[in-house]
Amino acid sequence: MSVVETAGQVLREGAFGHATALSCRECGHQVALGPFYACPECFGPLEISYDFPAVTREEIEAGPANIWRYKALLPVPSDIEQSPNMEPGFTRLLKAHNLGRELGIDNLWVKDDSTNPTNSFKDRVVACALSAATELHAKVFACPSTGNLANAVAAAGARSGIKTVVFIPANLEKPKQINSAIYTDSLVAVNGNYDDVNKLASEIAGEEDGWAFVNVNVRPYYAEGSKTLGYEIAEQLGWRLPDQVVIPVASGSQLTKVHKAFQELIKLGLVEEKPYKIYGAQATGCGPVATAFKAGVDAIRPVKPDTIAKSLAIGNPADGIYVLDICRETGGAVEEVTDDEIRDGIVLLARTEGIFTETAGGTTTAVLKKLVETGQLDTSLETVFINTGHGLKTLDAIADKVGAAATIDPSYDAFKAAGLV
Ligand SMILES: Cc1ncc(COP(=O)(O)O)c(C=O)c1O
Repeated sequence: MSVVETAGQVLREGAFGHATALSCRECGHQVALGPFYACPECFGPLEISYDFPAVTREEIEAGPANIWRYKALLPVPSDIEQSPNMEPGFTRLLKAHNLGRELGIDNLWVKDDSTNPTNSFKDRVVACALSAATELHAKVFACPSTGNLANAVAAAGARSGIKTVVFIPANLEKPKQINSAIYTDSLVAVNGNYDDVNKLASEIAGEEDGWAFVNVNVRPYYAEGSKTLGYEIAEQLGWRLPDQVVIPVASGSQLTKVHKAFQELIKLGLVEEKPYKIYGAQATGCGPVATAFKAGVDAIRPVKPDTIAKSLAIGNPADGIYVLDICRETGGAVEEVTDDEIRDGIVLLARTEGIFTETAGGTTTAVLKKLVETGQLDTSLETVFINTGHGLKTLDAIADKVGAAATIDPSYDAFKAAGLV
């Protein structure tokens, strides 16, 4: 393989696949591929541009049952499968018959990303970030996190042999802390909320050489991993786009990338062009995008999060304005639900579909219900909602809500007396 140079670094040719540049989402200015995330002209966010080759459905279908089946559409080298990575993706798309019946939605699907290696969709984005960090010769793989990202970074770093340092708010759910600390001895709990942790990470990224902060200085590569959710939904529907998708929103990156994936599939001729609506789901205790959507304004006013949905607790969402645009342009909406509704959403999904989701999925399920009840969602259209994380990570959220139906003596009479049958 020949080499190219960027930011004083010698990189392998094709280190970022068919990516051609980093382009500013605000002014369009282009920057060479490297560890950059803000436009040098206007400080707008950078994202990856590509010169895609012709890709066929058959080529993709012949690929591995993980996100690398879409490697031609991601900023990763063609030999990515040789690198130790967590190989996330190609999670199940399930017909949600019972929940659909309960909510009155004719054709409902759940994309269940809780079955990824560390039980959240974050394994997808981390796999792409790890590839970029490796190609950029990073010494340390790091992140500020609301929990799931820390789990995914710590695990992927362990498997690839790169040192990891993960930063989380000190009040994070205990299971998420343990799920990171098991893979790394460098879990740092910060006294503050996610936005404070994020600020600290940006400061360290500016001071320390060779640190790849997955959602700070290699964010453009990291974010592309979420596109694979959109690709998979379309492929698993038989190379078709759904009519409606409901997606949880923290930074908003996942939602914007699912939209980007749908647009790319249309441009590449892999699916037929059609209208679709995208809906965002937030918690009332951290709903800055939902608030702006309802107020009909373009500016997003940052909030101090106060919700059990800690994985969605980003008070100043980096992609918030793009989420607003996409939801408005596609005819969707951004809705929010209370913590009680989130708990009810967790139980509803478990009791109808046998899927135990964390608070983010509880938020998405509850928002789906609210969208139906408020007439914002057309129940006759094919709808997909994304479950992004596993309920075992947020047990405390529902610990007081569910439990034994009865405590009985070990006798048949006692069982009969309990009146359960
Ligand atoms: C389980 C879960 N779902 C959804 C999200 C939202 O992701 P995004 O920041 O891309 O909006 C997160 C973010 O951490 C998460 O952990």
